[in-house]
Amino acid sequence: MNLSYHHLFQPGTDSAAPPLLLLHGTGGNEHDLVPLARQLSPGSALLSPRGDVNEHGARRFFARLAEGVFDPAEVTRRTHALADFITTATAHHGIAPGRLLAVGFSNGANIAATLLQLRPETLAGAVLLRPMVVLDQSAAAGSLTGKRILIASGTHDPIVPPDHPARLAALLRVGGADATLHSAPAGHNLTSADLAAAQDFLVRR
Ligand code: MLT
Repeated sequence: MNLSYHHLFQPGTDSAAPPLLLLHGTGGNEHDLVPLARQLSPGSALLSPRGDVNEHGARRFFARLAEGVFDPAEVTRRTHALADFITTATAHHGIAPGRLLAVGFSNGANIAATLLQLRPETLAGAVLLRPMVVLDQSAAAGSLTGKRILIASGTHDPIVPPDHPARLAALLRVGGADATLHSAPAGHNLTSADLAAAQDFLVRR
């Protein structure tokens, strides 16, 4: 069994609540997004892997060449590895395939986006908090039909270039995704406006 990522799993208490895949940011771990997830959707099952790349002690989901500079081969390889883990872990923990909704922050949002681009079958949708364009590649036509995606950005984020949220939405919409852009007067860190936008997005499911 390929349960290759160290991970946290908490069973759900409400079968109507979507199971959530939590993907932390650089330097975080599998516990970081649990409080946010519990606020967003108290009854959801939670599957939360720890990034398996170690950047000077900071955990991430793929290596980078420099801040904002990526190697597509590395990103692609790590995305497929995470997708394979998701397939095995959802079966192992009894999560219905195709119901998993990603909630990712920063580097975690970035690998959630590349999952949608390269392995769309692994996710039902996603809340992407502060993502950027990592793979400049459109989703395959029809691969994201019926999947809802929230892209939450900060207007003065020093890490995400200002045109990236709209560019990412466009790449995902080619696949048929229903992508919503939300921007708040914030930097790279999350604010209460992100929580409100994510709650609103989940309620409208
Ligand atoms: C990344 O490397 O994925 C992005 O720059 C976000 C970050 O982790 O700072």
